[in-house]
Amino acid sequence: MANISEDIKLEIKYRNDIESVISQYVNLKRRGKNLVGLCPFHNEKTPSFTVYPENGSYYCFGCGQGGDVITFVSQIEKLDYVEAVKLLADRSGITIPESGYDNSMQELKNRIFEINRETARFYYAYLMSPGGKWALDYLHGRGLTDATIKRFGLGAAPDSWDLLIKHLKSKGFSIPDMLQANVISQSSRGSYFDRFRNRVMFPIFNLRGNVIAFSGRARPDDPKATGKYVNTQDTPVYKKSQHLFALNFAKNDCADRIILVEGNMDVISLHQAGFTNAVAALGTAFGAEQVKLLSRYTKEIVVTMDADEAGQKAVRRTIEELKDSGINIRVLVIPDGKDPDEYIRKNGAAKFRALLDGAVSDIEYKLLTAASDIDVTTDNGRLQYLKRAAEILAGVYDKLTIDLYAGRLADKYGVSKTALLSQIDDLKKRNVRKEQKKEFDRVVTPRYDSGDINPDRRRYPRAAKAEESLIAILLSHPDLYSALKGRISPDSFITSLNKRVFQTICDVLDSGRPTVDIALFGEGYTPAELGYIVSLQNGVLAEKNAKTVLNDCIKVILEENMAVNAANDKDLSIDDWAAKMQQIAKNKKGE
Ligand code: UTP
Ligand code: MN
Repeated sequence: MANISEDIKLEIKYRNDIESVISQYVNLKRRGKNLVGLCPFHNEKTPSFTVYPENGSYYCFGCGQGGDVITFVSQIEKLDYVEAVKLLADRSGITIPESGYDNSMQELKNRIFEINRETARFYYAYLMSPGGKWALDYLHGRGLTDATIKRFGLGAAPDSWDLLIKHLKSKGFSIPDMLQANVISQSSRGSYFDRFRNRVMFPIFNLRGNVIAFSGRARPDDPKATGKYVNTQDTPVYKKSQHLFALNFAKNDCADRIILVEGNMDVISLHQAGFTNAVAALGTAFGAEQVKLLSRYTKEIVVTMDADEAGQKAVRRTIEELKDSGINIRVLVIPDGKDPDEYIRKNGAAKFRALLDGAVSDIEYKLLTAASDIDVTTDNGRLQYLKRAAEILAGVYDKLTIDLYAGRLADKYGVSKTALLSQIDDLKKRNVRKEQKKEFDRVVTPRYDSGDINPDRRRYPRAAKAEESLIAILLSHPDLYSALKGRISPDSFITSLNKRVFQTICDVLDSGRPTVDIALFGEGYTPAELGYIVSLQNGVLAEKNAKTVLNDCIKVILEENMAVNAANDKDLSIDDWAAKMQQIAKNKKGE
C-alpha cells in the first residue's frame, strides 16, 4: 500500500545522503567505491555491512538485510515507513504536502486499535457480569486481586458465537475491520463468528498503551475448548515476534534487570508480588527481534523457566539467542518443577526474591548442566567433564571471566589452572578459524543463493537464476527495458518473489521513470527482501555483456515456464496448444 507519493520519497532520498546518515549509526570504512562497517542489525566481528553510495543502497552479507536510506532509518529507529520518511523530511527541511500522503494504512490501524479497545472493554464487562462469574472465581482462585485484574485489563469471553460481533456492530465497526483485527473469524461456509469463546482473556498492550492483541485461556472445565491458549494472529498492528507480554508495565522498572518467564499467568503473579519487571514471550519462542527490543531497556535478563525438560530446553535456546546481545544473562531454575506463578503462590515473594538473588550466570548454568550426565567421581568422568567445560569457556569472550571460572574448576577438580587455560586457548583459536571461514563463506556466497527469501528457488533453481540475472540487469541498465518489452511479462516468471520484483520494475519503468530506484520498492517489501534486491542490483554485470545475458535470461525463463506449464497441457485446446508450441519454437530461435 503506497502511503507517500513516489516523488516525495525520491526527493527525501536525494536530500539525505546515505553515507552521512548511516555514518551517524555505523562506523564506516571506505573499501573501493563502497563503504563497509559492522552490521547494526546483527552481531558480527568482521564487517559485512556494505553501503553503496553510487545508488544509495546498503546490504549486509551476514544477515541479508538491505534497502535504502529510508528503510535504514525505519529499521534502526524502529519506525514504520511513513514515520521514517517524516523523520528524514524534518531533518532535511522538507515539508510533505498533505496530498503527498495516502493515510489508508494508518487509518486501518487506528480502527483496529479502537476495535481492540472496545473488545477489551466488552470482555472486562462480561467478566464482571453474572455470566462471567466462573472466570472471576477462577482468577481469584489463582490468587489475583481485583486491582491486578483491573490493571492488566483481564476479561472473559462469553460462551457464544456472536455476542462480540453484535456488540462491535452496535458500536459501528465493520466486519472486514473486525476480521483484520482478528477478533472474529470466517467459517468455510462464509459465516462470521467470535474467535474467543468461553475463555479468560488477557489483552496485550503495545508500549504506547494501545491494545494490540489478545491471549485467551480455556475455561478449565470446558470440554469444547480447542487448545489451552488461543492467541491473536499477526495483524496490521501486531507481530507476535516483536512484542513481549507486559513490557508496557515493565518498561519503567527494568533498567537494571528484567525477568523473562514463559507464561502470562507467571508475569501477572510476579507483578502482583512486586516483581514489576517481569515479561513473557507471547506463545512463541523468544527470538532475535525480542532480544533487540529488550537490549534497549535493560542491562540484565534473568531467564526463568520450569525445571522440567521442556523448560531447560527453552533456557538453552534463550541463552543462545541472547549470547551476542551484550545483555548480562542469568538463569533461575525454579525447584520442584514449578512455574514462577505456582512457586510464588506456595512460597511467597521473599523466597522468590532469594531465588532471584541466587540466579547463576549463563556460564555457570552451562557448566552446571554439563555435568548432569557425567559421573565426576571417577577420573574418566572428571576428564570428560573438564573437556566439556573447556569447550564452554572457549565460547566466552571476556578474559577475566574465563580466568575466574578456570580457577574454580581447577581447584574443584584438582588440575592445574595453566593446563586448563591452555586447553581453552587452543579451542578458542580453532573457533576463531571456524568463524572466519564461516564469514568468508557468507561473503563469497551471496545470501540470495540460499533460497530462504524466495522459497520457490529451491524447486526452480534454473528459472530463478535467470530471473535474478534479468532483474539485476534491468536495475543497472534500465535502458534495456525497451528491448525486452513484449517478449516477456511478469506472468512468465516462475518464482513468486522474482515475479513480484519484476512486476514492480515494469510498473516503475512503464510509468515513464528512467531508472528504478530502490525507494520505489518502498513499503511492499521486507528488509530481507529489499536486501535481496539490493544484492542483485549491486552484483552488476559488465556493460558489454548485459544485452547478451538478457537475451539468454529471457530464453531460459520462457523455456522453464513452458516446462512448468507442460503438466497442464492436457487441458489445453488444440489451438492454444499449437500457439504455445509456436511460441516455444520462437523462443528457441531467440526472437
Ligand atoms: P503453559 O502451558 O505453561 O501455561 O504455557 P501457563 O502460563 O502456566 O498457564 P496456566 O498457569 O496453566 O494457566 C506457557 C505459555 O505458553 C503459551 C502461553 O503464552 C502460555 O502462557 N501457550 C501455551 C500458548 O500460546 N498456547 C498453548 O496452547 C499453550
Ligand atoms: Mn502455570
